[in-house]
Amino acid sequence: MTAELDAIAQKMVADGKGILAADESTSTIKKRFDAIGVESTEDNRRDYRELLFRSQAMQKYISGVILFDETIRQKAKDGTPLVALIQQAGAIPGIKVDAGAKPMPLCPGETITEGLDGLAGRLKEYYDLGARFAKWRAVIDIGAGIPSYPAVRANAHALARYAALCQEANIVPIVEPEVLMDGDHDIDTCYRVTEWVLKTTFEELYYQRIRHEGMVLKPNMVVPGKKCPKQASVAEVAEKTVRLLKTCVPSAVPGIAFLSGGQSDEEATAHLDAMVKHGGLPWKLTYSYGRALQAAPQKAWSGKAENVAAAQAAFDHRAHMNSLAALGQWTTEVERKAA
Ligand code: 13P
Repeated sequence: MTAELDAIAQKMVADGKGILAADESTSTIKKRFDAIGVESTEDNRRDYRELLFRSQAMQKYISGVILFDETIRQKAKDGTPLVALIQQAGAIPGIKVDAGAKPMPLCPGETITEGLDGLAGRLKEYYDLGARFAKWRAVIDIGAGIPSYPAVRANAHALARYAALCQEANIVPIVEPEVLMDGDHDIDTCYRVTEWVLKTTFEELYYQRIRHEGMVLKPNMVVPGKKCPKQASVAEVAEKTVRLLKTCVPSAVPGIAFLSGGQSDEEATAHLDAMVKHGGLPWKLTYSYGRALQAAPQKAWSGKAENVAAAQAAFDHRAHMNSLAALGQWTTEVERKAA
């Protein structure tokens, strides 16, 4: 059991490959579709995800795909289960299992991620549907007086409870404590809050007996808030993120797959590349991007069947650039030439 878990975790962070986060909830995908003028119907959501899963990038650059409950049960237009398309490309199907971030009682402005009740049963069903890893996202916001101790502690505890349920079900947990980049805080505030969140998360993981070899961490990078007047260079983000992760993440963890969190496509690629170029890291670094992998293909597709090839080309390009970044081989020249 532990050997299988560890092998899946290692495959998720295989050299030059990363994870496609395509697990937008029905309300989030509606927002993305609204932006490109596409109605969010079940068929449109299927058509869009099918085009991603049938692209070249899947075999070359994608180790796993995080799915939403609806998608893991859907079939492609020709009747093939979408899960089978992912498996045929050599990638691993995964599943988002949290029930979303809900207002946290007595902690105004903060959230607690729900979804532990009945999770053992759901994990068993997802395993039978083909899922070999899962995702749970805790959300920590930075603002006046927040985050608070109860919110950091409760979210870390829920992540650890989820991770334990996953490992018992033979599913690799992606542990995602996301410190948001909304707001006007500076990069050092992001550093301090992320340090607190990661230290607390690994403490809770320890108390819930999580096997570090059989998990993947999905953190935010250390970046200033979007509204901070002082933005940071690629070198500063890379240096501070690597320093922080070295102080917080045990080397038994096989890999760290970052979220993009609202960074532009190219920023997310450049930051990953600069961190990998640091070298001498005890774990693999790669991507588990949602927006930074899908913004370009969504725009190219715009809901039209005649744009499918262009959308796939846009996805191939972005995934290729991130694959190079995960190998520390990306440059702006390569980006321009391949565009
Ligand atoms: P972004 O890369 O768009 O932040 O999404 C990743 C994700 O899975 C968030 O939970």
